[in-house]
Amino acid sequence: MNDTFLKACRGEEVPYTPVWIMRQAGRYLPEYRAIRGKADFLTMCKTPELAAEVTLQPIDILKVDAAILFSDILIPCEAMGQGLEFHEGKGPILSPAIRDADTADKLSIPDPEDKMKFVMDAVRLLRKELADRVPLIGFAGAPFTTATYMIEGGTSKNFLNTKRMIYENPELYKSFMDKITATITEYLRAQISAGAQAVQIFDTWGGIFSPQDFREYVLPYVTRIINDLNDWMKSENQEQVPIIYFVGETAGLLEEIKTSGANVYGVDWRINLNDAINRLGGDVVVQGNLDPLSMFLPLEKIEERVKDILARASSARGHIFNLGHGVVPQTPPDSVIALVEIVHRLSKK
Ligand code: CP3
Repeated sequence: MNDTFLKACRGEEVPYTPVWIMRQAGRYLPEYRAIRGKADFLTMCKTPELAAEVTLQPIDILKVDAAILFSDILIPCEAMGQGLEFHEGKGPILSPAIRDADTADKLSIPDPEDKMKFVMDAVRLLRKELADRVPLIGFAGAPFTTATYMIEGGTSKNFLNTKRMIYENPELYKSFMDKITATITEYLRAQISAGAQAVQIFDTWGGIFSPQDFREYVLPYVTRIINDLNDWMKSENQEQVPIIYFVGETAGLLEEIKTSGANVYGVDWRINLNDAINRLGGDVVVQGNLDPLSMFLPLEKIEERVKDILARASSARGHIFNLGHGVVPQTPPDSVIALVEIVHRLSKK
């Protein structure tokens, strides 16, 4: 197997810097749009054969060093009992929005092999179809990022309802977060049992807080998941599956993030990677951190930026190349193909 990605996650020697791209299976690929033209997004998520097919597309097209399961961080919200729809051009809609104890109490902690079996079926199918070509990354939203969608009822600009719940009704927030945290822990455990070889926890909106609030309202729940997963892996005597923690708007929160217990820290592009590494404590594995919109630069400029990031990453124990957030749908696929080739060529030892 090409295990460069897993070795880098563990901080071991690698022949070159492994690379994968957040949202690598998505609308920027014509091959994805061809399948998406025949099925809506949620149907694709819920049909293991389709989810597996689009997961594999970027492996063949981009030659990336890892596959990431095609699914969505909002799948567990529906499994907990909230309505989930995706509307063209409007993003996700979750209903009813969770704003009081009555609606929160109606949500359950689902058995993932029952309510989200299609995800684990996709993982099992993918492990077969990948036949160890590259490792498979599973994922979930972090409890806080998941909660924002459930409380706001969808995407938000200033997270008014979320912050109001936190500040006006901290008891409700805490009990609601306990429920989401238990759901996500079970969900990731099921993905690992089904064959996920690494997992990434997406905290896209974690950066909307001051470091103090992040420490109080975001971090404890992520830390609980990481500790519980690690304890469980030890007790099962199963090989440590690397846990990647990605926070959007990382720069103000690195001192907090480094206490999460994750094996790999995702870093966005708003900070120089060497500065992030220093503030994380030096002896760490990082993932990132090219601005996704720099994919619109001419190739020679992309190459310069890759060179710069690789040089800045040299002080870390390990580095996995990625964009600092998901690739956007308008991105020219040829630039992403070139990016992967550039990373491999420039980092070759
Ligand atoms: O990285 C991958 O290729 C794996 C698949 C993946 C998707 N979403 C597919 C998707 C992953 C890891 C996600 C994570 C996700 N989903 C996050 C966290 C990461 C991030 O980008 O911040 C968030 C916040 C979501 C929630 C979500 N899903 C939103 C807000 C939207 C709509 C916005 C948009 O871009 O249209 C989605 C839809 C979604 N998830 C698409 C894909 C490929 C587009 C759906 C389509 O084909 O119409």
